[in-house]
Amino acid sequence: MTEAGMTESAESLVRDGRGAMGWAERAPMSRHFDLANQKDYLAWRDEKLARYPRSVDVLKVALGDIGCPSGEEKARITDLARRANMAIYMTTADAASLADASPEALRPAMRAFGRAFELDIAEAHRSAENEGIVAIEVADTPAKRGFIPYTTKALSWHTDGYYNQPEEAIGGMLLHCVRPASQGGVNALLDPEIAYIRLRDRSPALIAALMHPEAMSIPESVEDDGSVRPVSTGPVFIIDAECKTLTMRYTARTRSVFWRDDDETRAAVAMLNELLSEQQEPLILHYRLAAGEGLISNNVLHTRTAFENDGGIGRLLYRVRYTNRIAGT
Ligand SMILES: [Fe+2]
Repeated sequence: MTEAGMTESAESLVRDGRGAMGWAERAPMSRHFDLANQKDYLAWRDEKLARYPRSVDVLKVALGDIGCPSGEEKARITDLARRANMAIYMTTADAASLADASPEALRPAMRAFGRAFELDIAEAHRSAENEGIVAIEVADTPAKRGFIPYTTKALSWHTDGYYNQPEEAIGGMLLHCVRPASQGGVNALLDPEIAYIRLRDRSPALIAALMHPEAMSIPESVEDDGSVRPVSTGPVFIIDAECKTLTMRYTARTRSVFWRDDDETRAAVAMLNELLSEQQEPLILHYRLAAGEGLISNNVLHTRTAFENDGGIGRLLYRVRYTNRIAGT
């Protein structure tokens, strides 16, 4: 393995700049998320587990310019997204200058970075500012007041936009750190495909329960501006028509979430809680983004620890949500 933890074959893909024929595409007819197709599932599962990064360092890719990633940088990120549905980029610009950089200069660069992976910015979020890029910081503005992401509190396991309607589920997510907290603000990260594998290996019935169209409901909520976000009822695991991609709607919170009232759903949710909240899953990775670093992902499961700000300048991350997945993954 090289410094970035790439396999030889991935390295050769990077060398020729294609990066478009990774292991995930070697079997174009693979339907590994089809519960009736155990053969494809087992072949995919074994390779997925074998290639999954065991260290967060493997996820890291250095970028010369976030606004214009090179072919080689894009190929490395795409390969990591196939292995783990995420990558961590590190901009090589001086961290101090990035931390001081005008947000207005960073936003176009972040938009360009998303476009390099053919990501489409999702619908306007209640706190979306400036073309869909949301500042995640301690804030008391009307659109953010009362919501935990905009406090210093910990965030439990979730995928982004779990309260969206299933047909508006979030496919991709970009999180860029402008300034870390003085202490805390660590993310735990897990590819939803690993959670899927653990449950399916226990019992395919657990997967079937979480694919049910009424598996998880988030009740209606009234926003500060008086608008109503309607109740959202849908599956936890959303599988595409070709049974090749998985989108997960999930929150570990226990308030304002209702689970389908049957034994298989209860067993599946209990197992997810064991894996995630009790941290029994060994492939969970932990990382505290530094200034100028970011996470690009196909909406992986994540948490945030509580944090402390030092004086007047607090933790600031920018977040973009996308309707689709990283190109080629
Ligand atoms: Fe989140």
